[in-house]
Amino acid sequence: MPLPLISERPLPGAPADVTGARRQLIDRLSADGRLPLGDWETLLSSPSQEDRAYARDRAAEVARSQFGNRVFVRGLIEFSSHCRQDCLYCGIRKSNRDAERYRLSPDEILACCAEGYRLGYRTFVLQSGEDARYTTEVVTDIVRRIRAAYPDCAITLSIGERSRAAYQQFFDAGANRFLLRHETADSEHYDRLHPAGRTLESRLACLSDLKEIGFQTGAGFMVGSPFQTVNHLAKDLVLLSELRPHMVGIGPFLPHHRTPFADQPAGSVDLTLFILSLVRLMLPTVLLPSTTALGTARAGARESGIQAGANVVMLNLSPPEQRPKYLLYDNKPVSGEVVEMTEAVRRSLGRIGYEMVVDRGDHPEAAR
Ligand code: 5AD
Repeated sequence: MPLPLISERPLPGAPADVTGARRQLIDRLSADGRLPLGDWETLLSSPSQEDRAYARDRAAEVARSQFGNRVFVRGLIEFSSHCRQDCLYCGIRKSNRDAERYRLSPDEILACCAEGYRLGYRTFVLQSGEDARYTTEVVTDIVRRIRAAYPDCAITLSIGERSRAAYQQFFDAGANRFLLRHETADSEHYDRLHPAGRTLESRLACLSDLKEIGFQTGAGFMVGSPFQTVNHLAKDLVLLSELRPHMVGIGPFLPHHRTPFADQPAGSVDLTLFILSLVRLMLPTVLLPSTTALGTARAGARESGIQAGANVVMLNLSPPEQRPKYLLYDNKPVSGEVVEMTEAVRRSLGRIGYEMVVDRGDHPEAAR
């Protein structure tokens, strides 16, 4: 691919023309909100430290202009570790017979919300494996109860693929947001990460249903998942530029010892941070979490994610005794009282100049 000529001195360790070309692409991405696939590939192929710092500083400026120094906090309630899916990367996949399973009752879920509310949480994210025991009716009833008890809070669901009619019912009951990572925008790659019968096509159909229904909708993917290429990542970013979701969840792949990918290397923290910055530049108002996986992969990386343009952190409100049973990957943090974790994150954000705020933190374009 021809690279534009530039007139700056070579930087140590990186061919000057490539770094210069990447900076031009980063500027173009900021201006246009999209890039052609080939340009994404250039941008994502071994960026230099200078490229990453450039993207990070531009992205941090954009986040600051949109949100000031505010970081939104979400309370995550992992309400069931049962899953009928068998995603090859995931520790709670159906085939993992070693995984301990649990379910929270509606009352237990409401108790998690109550504790979170007391501590200032105004978004509850209900996440689970794909557990058929929580039928459309059961989920709808849980949403209705949370909506009635906490009219000032946002309710986010992260429960996988369901019918459009079910999604509509959850929305009508008062759910506001839905997270459903697309996982990879390349259908062959999708097939290598998921069991037969699961398709990228149906995943994307769900995302389009969710958006049409009116959910603030979240897509996303793992960085460094097995078999992933630069072309796949480029496609992920093109997909995001077309879908323009309200939320984007991105974290490094981390192996789980009881999955077929146990021996696969973890995704790169630095590449994840770079991609977070690019997403912020492409979608200035997006709700972008600095994910638990990122914080697990390297100490301090959650803070680095905020400095790279993320503006959301999700903390675990699940009952402490159940957390060790919701292990999507190895070394996921499970200890800590909610109140202490919340204060620890508040302090660590404060140290880097950010403020954790009590706010629903809706997407700026989302109608209430
Ligand atoms: N490493 C990192 N992220 C994972 N997820 C599932 N398993 C792993 C893993 N091993 C992510 C998926 C899923 C989200 C809930 O967690 O992207 O959508």
